[in-house]
Amino acid sequence: MYRTHNCGELRLKHQGQKVTLSGWVQRKRDKGGMIWIDLRDRYGVTQLAFDESKTDKNILDTVEKCGREYVLKATGNVIERYSKNDNMPTGDIEIFPDALEILSASKTPPFTIENESDGSDELRMKYRYLDIRRNPVKNALVLRHNIARETRKYLDKNGFLEIETPNLIKSTPEGARDFVVPSRMHPGTFYALPQSPQTFKQLLMLGGIDKYFQLVKCYRDEDLRADRQPEFSQIDCEMSFVDKDDIMKQFEGLVQHLFKTVKNVDIELPFKRLTWHESMEKYGIDKPDLRFDMTISELTHLAQNKGFKVFDSVEYVGGICAEKCASYSRKQLDELTKFVQQPQVGAKGLVYVKYNEDGSFKSSVDKFFTPEDLKSWADAMHATPGDLLLILAGNKQETLDQLSVLRLEMGNRLNLRDPGKFEPLWVVDFPLLEWDDETNRYYAMHHPFTSAKAEDTKFMDIDPGKVRANAYDMVINGVELGGGSIRIHNTDEQQHMFKLLGFTEEEARAQFGFLLDAFQYGVPPHGGIAFGFDRICALFGGSDSIRDYIAFPKNNAGRDIMIDAPATISEKQLKELKLKLDVNR
Ligand code: AMO
Repeated sequence: MYRTHNCGELRLKHQGQKVTLSGWVQRKRDKGGMIWIDLRDRYGVTQLAFDESKTDKNILDTVEKCGREYVLKATGNVIERYSKNDNMPTGDIEIFPDALEILSASKTPPFTIENESDGSDELRMKYRYLDIRRNPVKNALVLRHNIARETRKYLDKNGFLEIETPNLIKSTPEGARDFVVPSRMHPGTFYALPQSPQTFKQLLMLGGIDKYFQLVKCYRDEDLRADRQPEFSQIDCEMSFVDKDDIMKQFEGLVQHLFKTVKNVDIELPFKRLTWHESMEKYGIDKPDLRFDMTISELTHLAQNKGFKVFDSVEYVGGICAEKCASYSRKQLDELTKFVQQPQVGAKGLVYVKYNEDGSFKSSVDKFFTPEDLKSWADAMHATPGDLLLILAGNKQETLDQLSVLRLEMGNRLNLRDPGKFEPLWVVDFPLLEWDDETNRYYAMHHPFTSAKAEDTKFMDIDPGKVRANAYDMVINGVELGGGSIRIHNTDEQQHMFKLLGFTEEEARAQFGFLLDAFQYGVPPHGGIAFGFDRICALFGGSDSIRDYIAFPKNNAGRDIMIDAPATISEKQLKELKLKLDVNR
């Protein structure tokens, strides 16, 4: 038997019992006459003690041999400790082994396996199995498990069936790039890995499943960021005979359940709702962080035609009001200017207006604007004496983007983004289509299966950009946790949509013929949503990076540096697949 108990469970009440523990050597301390080993497993750490004057020579020889991360099995009596350690749950006791066995030796690990490690990100990813032994990583995986368990509980209780859908499917031109898999049996053809199970879940509704969910891997070949991995997981859901409100109610219920059961945080229902348009105008972004206010105000009309060329020559002038920041120093303002001028933010410059405590104004544009002008801006921004106005100008969308980044930066600087506070909302009424100047065509903002709001279908042919979608995103603290829509459920409408997206009838049939065919056989009105499961984990764990919550993640370049993937394949494999490489093309 390897163990009678685990390394985290022994307490004073076990005193006098003979126990066997197995685990890894966290630390060994030799104080001359006494040697201690901290033995660690998933559940905790227990101290083994060896009194050199009383311990068998064979055991001392074994102790001598073992170093960090050796795997040991120790049997001995539980003894009350002379000097207790209140920081350890097992800190009242220790074991005096009368048998000790090395189950596996270990090389010295390349970084310390402690809560705070000295290993770089890359090193820890190369030895991810060692990193997983560290508490923060292990706890992230426990959190992920708990969220998955509670998701399944809630959805099961609400009548959802968990159904798997295929991983080898067909490449589609919409959305991100596909990862493709060559077929050996059908040379020259390729499967694609699903970017999401979208069409399959719709077909399950056609199959009468009524309520579906799946914790599912999705694959997207896109540029990576802290909140994006090439393979990630969704909580994917679909329901029949529902409207938008039914879905939003069901899934804010899921999120409330997860917060309560996993984090013991109470979340109020219903969630706030903001239209996409409002969100863009007030926060500059479609995933606003509502933990703080500092909304964007447009100043275009107040700021133009006063002789300041920078403002006069642009489409949009807007700003945010940072409360109680009028005392910002030259250095702080320079820092902010540099911040907005970084290439990732892209502003040309930053105009500031200090609304001083005494009611006077001091700005970087005093030459062009009178105190009355500045007062009119302050009023438009609901500023009061002591506040600082930060103003950007340019093309409307770009400036709103930049203001949204500046707003978050000010939120960070002023500690307004409390990680213990959660502010959920739904963003609704997204545009159905997005125009792309480069390719000169519309793209579906959500995906091509999303339906239009009934009252907007009249614009479908005359002004497609004006049509709003029956789509919704759930956002918490500036993170887009999930998104979904009510789907098109009739062939004509679906074909019309494909046409708007530039598909010929033949192309639409070649790509989505199966769906158009299925739509001939009685379609329940349906809709759904998918949550980024890794993002929920990161939000709950208080991290910006989803990587910490994935057991074996890819690095920023999309590589798994532990197994060294992607990698070349053998000539034989290429031959079987009838593939010829031309990597230098
Ligand atoms: P969407 O593309 O919005 O919708 O994806 C749903 C959610 O998945 C998460 N997500 C990601 N997480 C990590 N890495 C990525 N690369 C990544 N991409 C997306 C986000 C996002 O909100 N089939 C539709 C859903 C539907 O209509 O029901 C879909 O996939 O949190």
